[in-house]
Amino acid sequence: MKLDGKVAVVTGGGRNIGRAISLLFASEGAKIAIYDADRGRAAAVAEEVEAAGRVAYDVAKGGIISLTRDLAVQLAPHDIRTNAIAPGMSGSQVGARVAFEDRRPANLVGRAGHAEEQASVALFLASGDSAHVWGQTINVDGGSTVI
Ligand SMILES: NC(=O)c1ccc[n+]([C@@H]2O[C@H](COP(=O)([O-])OP(=O)(O)OC[C@H]3O[C@@H](n4cnc5c(N)ncnc54)[C@H](O)[C@@H]3O)[C@@H](O)[C@H]2O)c1
Repeated sequence: MKLDGKVAVVTGGGRNIGRAISLLFASEGAKIAIYDADRGRAAAVAEEVEAAGRVAYDVAKGGIISLTRDLAVQLAPHDIRTNAIAPGMSGSQVGARVAFEDRRPANLVGRAGHAEEQASVALFLASGDSAHVWGQTINVDGGSTVI
């Protein structure tokens, strides 16, 4: 598994993209700490993770610092990689169809993204597969930023 022995703190982990990241990272062996402003959502996703036999905690409070290129530079000497994803319009697979069915997003594929498509890029960035990727923001937006 790609995240064995790792601990992932997932901010906004109680819904949509954060939920998809929590579930995918747990399936790859990470222990998950879910931070969400809505404690009930965090607890619900923690239960989902635990129901799958994985380890999760919901975190009630905590300061969250935006991950930036500057942070990547500052933390590189400590061998800590900092990267980000910039999502385009994305819902859960069911939610996306409901929320966006009457909208044709201005991107190259003509549909909204799925939360799971954000989560798979987050997994890439969190795993050793991206060992040489430092301080980058990846647009996961169906190409909307190139139009
Ligand atoms: N889904 C999209 O189409 C889309 C597009 C572009 C950017 N984004 C960004 O991606 C992120 C996740 O999007 P989403 O669609 O999963 O959002 P969402 O609104 O479905 O879920 C966000 C979760 O984060 C929690 N939250 C909000 N503020 C918080 C805080 N200060 N601390 C901790 N938890 C907090 C909410 O309670 C909620 O459970 C957001 O930052 C959003 O702006 C999303």
